[in-house]
Amino acid sequence: MNSDLRLACDKMYKCGALGQLEWEVLALLSAVRDKLKPAISVELGSCYGGMSYLIATVTTEKVFSVDMAHATNAEAKHERVTYVSGHTESHEVLRSVEAGAGRKIDFLFIDADHSRAAVERDYQMWSPLVRPGGWIGFHDISNPGAAGCREFWDTIQGQKIEFIQTGNHNAFGFIGWLGCGGIGVVKKP
Ligand SMILES: C[S@@+](CC[C@H](N)C(=O)[O-])C[C@H]1O[C@@H](n2cnc3c(N)ncnc32)[C@H](O)[C@@H]1O
Repeated sequence: MNSDLRLACDKMYKCGALGQLEWEVLALLSAVRDKLKPAISVELGSCYGGMSYLIATVTTEKVFSVDMAHATNAEAKHERVTYVSGHTESHEVLRSVEAGAGRKIDFLFIDADHSRAAVERDYQMWSPLVRPGGWIGFHDISNPGAAGCREFWDTIQGQKIEFIQTGNHNAFGFIGWLGCGGIGVVKKP
């Protein structure tokens, strides 16, 4: 992990734009940057925009940030991010992202409606946009308040990795609530 990513993460926390646990997001994005090296990424459910900003720091060309109620903090605006307003289950929204991308995407991060059925629909609808070998991330696979995320995550087969913050990871500089969060990533065959 380099200091640029940590500084960007600190900036997003300080402006109140990020809904992720520090260790998890830094571990995920270090892996995305070093192993996947994405050119095009998409976040579903971006809220204050902090995660889209961080995804943009590890994506070389374009990021599409989809939310039906964008509330992107001014400090979290990033020049490589296109902010798409609309429902993730809208085919029009999907088609606009597909057209803007112009080719298959490398990284998809699902963090919109956290019910099991909605996470499954987002996965079924948006994962065809991901290239073979690309990664699909899911937030809140370890959040008891969003049990549907873990339920659906457990049904997915394939090469998977989980980034889950524990007490050992946050002895210093802890930000967030223990027992919430959790990020799962599956590689598209
Ligand atoms: C948990 S927040 C996202 C947090 C953000 N990913 C982060 O890491 O800071 C969920 C967001 O998803 C949006 N959302 C929920 N369901 C949606 C849907 N079906 N389509 C579009 N946006 C949705 C909400 O408006 C909210 O801003």
